[in-house]
Amino acid sequence: MSRLITVSNRLPVQLNAKGALVRSGGGLASAMSALDHPDQLWIGWPGQLDAARHDELTWRLRVEQGCVPVYLDDELFEPFYAGYANATLWPLLHYMTDRAKFEPDWFEAYRVANERFADVVLQEARPGDHVWVHDYQLMLLPAILRERMPSLTIGYFLHVPFPSHEVFRVLPEREHLLAGLLGADLIGFHTFGYLRHFRSALLRGLEQESLPGSAVVGGRLVRMGVYPIGHNRAAFDKATAAPAFRSHLGQLEKEFEGRRLVLSVERLDYTKGIPQKLASIERFLADHPERCEDTVFLIIAVPSRQTVEEYQQLTEQVQLAVGEINGNYSTFSRQPVHFYHRGTDLEHLAALYALADVALVTPLIDGMNLVAKEYVDCKGAPGARPGVLVLSEMAGAAQELAGALLVNPYDTQGVSEAINTALSRSAEDAHAAMQPMRQRVRNVDAAAWAKGFVDDLGREQRAPYDPAAEPGDELLSKLASAAKLALILDYDGTLRSFTAKPEDAVPSDETLALLAALAALDGVDLTVVSGRPEAFLETHLGPLGIAMFAEHGYRCRAATPLGGPAPAWEDTNPRADVSWASAVLPILEMASSLTPGTHVEVKRSALVWHYRRADPEFGAWKAGELLGELTEVAANLPVEVNHGHKIVEVASQQVSKGAALDAVLQQQTPDLALCCGDDRTDEKMFARRDAHPNLETIKVGPGETRAAWRVPDVPAMLAFLQRLLDSRR
Ligand code: UDP
Ligand code: G6P
Repeated sequence: MSRLITVSNRLPVQLNAKGALVRSGGGLASAMSALDHPDQLWIGWPGQLDAARHDELTWRLRVEQGCVPVYLDDELFEPFYAGYANATLWPLLHYMTDRAKFEPDWFEAYRVANERFADVVLQEARPGDHVWVHDYQLMLLPAILRERMPSLTIGYFLHVPFPSHEVFRVLPEREHLLAGLLGADLIGFHTFGYLRHFRSALLRGLEQESLPGSAVVGGRLVRMGVYPIGHNRAAFDKATAAPAFRSHLGQLEKEFEGRRLVLSVERLDYTKGIPQKLASIERFLADHPERCEDTVFLIIAVPSRQTVEEYQQLTEQVQLAVGEINGNYSTFSRQPVHFYHRGTDLEHLAALYALADVALVTPLIDGMNLVAKEYVDCKGAPGARPGVLVLSEMAGAAQELAGALLVNPYDTQGVSEAINTALSRSAEDAHAAMQPMRQRVRNVDAAAWAKGFVDDLGREQRAPYDPAAEPGDELLSKLASAAKLALILDYDGTLRSFTAKPEDAVPSDETLALLAALAALDGVDLTVVSGRPEAFLETHLGPLGIAMFAEHGYRCRAATPLGGPAPAWEDTNPRADVSWASAVLPILEMASSLTPGTHVEVKRSALVWHYRRADPEFGAWKAGELLGELTEVAANLPVEVNHGHKIVEVASQQVSKGAALDAVLQQQTPDLALCCGDDRTDEKMFARRDAHPNLETIKVGPGETRAAWRVPDVPAMLAFLQRLLDSRR
């Protein structure tokens, strides 16, 4: 089994003020501590501390905990952690755009911090290791690792929501973050909704197409999946079996005797909706004075990110609101809200869960929320009282916990009523609702979640084509030694990458020099066969004097004879019928007027609807509709309907790149021919392999093909042609 290196910003343990290693707060650390892998190492940040103590801590972490620390000095740590990670990304990923702060220097610190994590990973990593990167603090790390050690198998899990593109696009660095994640082999999310948003961001932000479970990125397969995290069941089983749990429970029973306990546990974070919860509690106390005496609200708010301004303000706001409620509703002997601004140990927490009549878990938004699952689980602990879970429908956990009383945390009255309903539930009803939920959270706990992800990560999946088909030395030497070689090259997507505006996709100087050098080789005839109109080809490739076919072979121009004038363009098939255009054009024009960002290109032998600049999802949908409509209309016309790269094309049946290829080979009679292309129209050339045994074919990019060989992208195609040039010189 491969070794597993887990990387997260926060390690599962941290130093407390007395110098002891104690468990870290937050869901990630608490769940990940359940990971049970026979050979694993955990790399992360252990908290800021004096550099003089680094050596001692490094030793203790490695020996006692199997952890390797990443130290960051304050100048880097502040803008990385308190800045970009927690004042920009955290609010934005939680849809709180108005709280997000944007400081130009923060992203650079974030990038450098991700590099530091990579440095430590690479000091430890051996070939064949699996690396599992966690959460929003390290979104660039997968791509950095991929670049610096391509042989690693890299997983990434996002513990927070991935928001809709409308929100994600607010980030000035959105493309970098998406590209960072795409360095992974497997990317995991808590819910299908987050995965859907991520795919939409890929499409809109990077023009990266994907299927629901995968994307092909530069010829590499990136898988994506949904893995809802569970709580650390083993840790709670251990805690609830410990004597400390029983003694805490006994003590709490005495403390809260005769009173109903409504419990909240969360980091003091604005996503947790504590002010809104307090407003609901106040509403409840106002609406149900009869319950004031016998109900106590206990809020455990674990301090969090206190160097971030928003968190400091929230602390003050919450303390003020608690004081106000207690001022208004306390009696001489009792106060309704108990507010603890500190963490507690696991046995005590488990005892509180076991005792509480109601858990009030009301985040405004939460990737998952483990407190809800822990509460449900602890209802089966020895001596536990029946209880009811009131859960925000905005938490990822709401999708799994159907027996909870689901509430909208913004609905003050609704939450107040849910508290009353929960307190009024009979013990039998509470137990009946809790049982199935408990079974579920115990089955799908953190260990099962981690195993599911790690197993999937280890499952080798190949790109949807055989990478072995990459052309190598064998093909090259065959091409190098052919006495008479014909090169037949497509243009867009083969010699030039796509751009938003087709007119911008002009050949670079390097590509022109390469083509000129190939054309000048002895025994080589170079022909470009393109879908472009002749004017474009004439302007950009005309000076090379090579043979060219425009409009997928409808028009052609022979190579310029040595010292002679350039030949004129002519129709390849003068009898081709193009009268069908008048029936088809109105349909495409209608699609264009109904779909912003699209236009119709009119060629002599084809009509093309371009949707590259349309909203990518809307464009693809409209293309589907258009294809359906055109297939009907075109049934009796001498045309072919093609769906190409962001285009829908209606072209004359009597014209095709396949026929153009036949004409070239018939005229040139080479010993060997090489034909390269990237899309469906080029498949017509590749399909001629059967008729021409001396034809070699290379497909550029992913997707099904009839070509014998494949390169991943345009740069790889150009690099291959350069090698061919060098080999024949
Ligand atoms: N927790 C903790 N210390 C405490 C109280 C709670 O570490 O004093 C843990 C709790 O057991 C839970 C985690 O903090 O596992 C909170 O996870 P959750 O998913 O609810 O929210 P997050 O803090 O990750 O946003
Ligand atoms: C959330 C995040 C974690 C983070 C935790 C505690 O659960 O998803 O990545 O570790 O909060 O926050 P902190 O900033 O203290 O690590």
